[in-house]
Amino acid sequence: MVIAIDGPAGAGKSTVAKFLAKKLNIVYLDTGAMYRAIGLKVYNDGCGVDDHERVKELLDSADIEIKYVDGAQTVWLDGKDVSKDIRLNHISKMASDVSAIPFVRVKLVDMQRKIASKQSTVLDGRDIGTVVFPNAEYKFFLTATVEERANRRYKELLEKGQSADFESIKKEIEQRDYNDSHRATSPLKKADDAIEIDTTGMNIEQVCAKISEIVK
Ligand code: DC
Repeated sequence: MVIAIDGPAGAGKSTVAKFLAKKLNIVYLDTGAMYRAIGLKVYNDGCGVDDHERVKELLDSADIEIKYVDGAQTVWLDGKDVSKDIRLNHISKMASDVSAIPFVRVKLVDMQRKIASKQSTVLDGRDIGTVVFPNAEYKFFLTATVEERANRRYKELLEKGQSADFESIKKEIEQRDYNDSHRATSPLKKADDAIEIDTTGMNIEQVCAKISEIVK
């Protein structure tokens, strides 16, 4: 069984996907983490995202592994656990930029299909229901207003004891939404047969309850 959860940044996809994976005892695959790993590799190399020749070399030599430690997904790049590094703010932007390059998508989509063909999986991303698994048994498209998504991120950072500026978070999210939904290859888009849930004003328990009701 494949469950596809797509939507823009901060709509609650990963929390819902983790919840479902645990509840149904199936694997969770965070596909954004894979684009982030390539973004990190390109960032560390220092070549520009537009230097496709170099990006291709980096992609071909990239060893990305998804490992599950006590049920939690960890991401390894070239033998190193990069689960924390890929969450840094500047890597979000890099991930979005490299994800627009078609050959990057080919490699990562192939990996995603291989992983999910071995076991029942819930995947979250931008193109799972449209491109990666158009025949997924369940497809959800989560949205929320940009204010709500920025506010969630803002609170998350404050809870972690990090400094945060609401307006710049909101701007970054808007920019990333624009990039992800306007690229030529596999843009962020609701699949025609996906169930759309606007999570604005809902807490995560309510979203999970609603989805659980549908996935019996
Ligand atoms: O879900 P995330 O914010 O961790 O994803 C980081 C970036 O990766 C996102 O801005 C766009 C890209 N991405 C994608 O193009 N396709 C996916 N299936 C998942 C993520």
